[in-house]
Amino acid sequence: MSQYKPEPFRIKMVEPIRLISREERKKALVEAGFNVFGLRSEDVYIDLMTDSGTSAMSQAQWAAMMMGDESYAGARSYYRLKAVMDEIFGFKFFVPTHQGRAAENILAALLVRPGQYVPSNMHFDTTEGNIRARGGRPVNLIIDEAYDPATRVDFKGNMDIAKLRNFIQEKGADNIPLGMITITNNAGGGQPVSMENLRQVADTYREFGIPFFIDACRFAENAYFIKLREPGFENDSPLEIAQKIFSLADGATMSAKKDGIVNIGGFLALNDETLFQSVRNELIMREGFPTYGGLAGRDLDAMAVGFKEALEVPYLEYRLAQTAYLGENLLENGIQIIEPPGAHAIYLDAMKLLPQIPQKELPGQALSLALYLEGGIRAVELGTVAFGYVDPETGKEILPKLDLVRMAIPRRVYTQSHMDYVVEVAARIASQAESMKGYRIVYQPKLLRHFTARFEPVNERG
Ligand code: F0G
Repeated sequence: MSQYKPEPFRIKMVEPIRLISREERKKALVEAGFNVFGLRSEDVYIDLMTDSGTSAMSQAQWAAMMMGDESYAGARSYYRLKAVMDEIFGFKFFVPTHQGRAAENILAALLVRPGQYVPSNMHFDTTEGNIRARGGRPVNLIIDEAYDPATRVDFKGNMDIAKLRNFIQEKGADNIPLGMITITNNAGGGQPVSMENLRQVADTYREFGIPFFIDACRFAENAYFIKLREPGFENDSPLEIAQKIFSLADGATMSAKKDGIVNIGGFLALNDETLFQSVRNELIMREGFPTYGGLAGRDLDAMAVGFKEALEVPYLEYRLAQTAYLGENLLENGIQIIEPPGAHAIYLDAMKLLPQIPQKELPGQALSLALYLEGGIRAVELGTVAFGYVDPETGKEILPKLDLVRMAIPRRVYTQSHMDYVVEVAARIASQAESMKGYRIVYQPKLLRHFTARFEPVNERG
């Protein structure tokens, strides 16, 4: 049994949860079209669908919310957030957005033209969707080790610099309106990127005159991995490491629903003044005035406090330890995960657990549905359903290399006994894995299909 680090907080407010019967869970799945996004949360016992917007705010954040200044323009809340933004991220300009994808939308609308490419280590689904929606092509240039779940590498989220250089030379810098990197790499196991790699990526983009934007959703967790694993950073605070990270980039998109530890919020930050003027105009049209950007003043205050709390060492220590506890215990029960455990989630290798289900029959989907049926646990497929797509040039269906199920851990929400329960249920599923069957899609939208697609078990039509 791996060690559990006690929570560095005590609980002041509770939200009841309940496990409905197996019969009721079965019925709920049918009604949801065999898509866990269609379930009612009251029918979910342990909700590991996402760490986004699901975290518990601290007493300091709730207190800050009471100070919210709801003025339309120039609110105190904005200036309190700006002070924290300047300290941590240090970009010349920023606008608050209601969440990360709003920042991505503005960036893609202003920069991406049809046929252009946007490289990253790995884009997350909404980033991909926003680039594709403008006719652009997201490209993933991660190191090869990222595709081998069982290989332990300290910085498995790193970009492959040789691949990046070749790609830029092949396509031409003129066809690349911006370059990105995601920290930590959510689509590939929540794995961190090293400072060394971030520097090389920044240098490469700069050499070719390509603006460099960081998808910064889990910047604090990434900073802490650098502190623990990268020589030369052991004595830096997570804040100092974060400052060094962002000094390398021209801008960042952020979903504060992750390392802002808030239920809603985000930002788009950048150094280019001309681009910022266009950003502001886009924001005013779609999100709101630049000093509140689609949020209430109190949301800005909660974010300002949350960014700082996310960088505190006792919190980060516990955060990484809780996730590692879940991951190592799943491994001990014979369930392959992406190794080593990341900070915000554990990713189960569905193709390894269910080799009898061909990738086209969606082993990850089958596993996520089994977790709900067996234990009322909601975890989400991040594999063929989420990342498979039809190539616009060839019309061919492209399947991702891995078919994963992600158990994301909300910040400061669940305890050790919840984690033990999840391991117990997963182990039960693993012991009956060979009897499980696949699924097929019966409805899907054009983009971001995993949210609203409907499925049926393959054995129902033979
Ligand atoms: N980038 C990354 C790396 C993300 O993980 C997310 C969201 C976004 C951008 C978009 O942010 O949701 O605020 O619009 N990820 C959530 C998840 C939804 O479950 O991983 P958003």
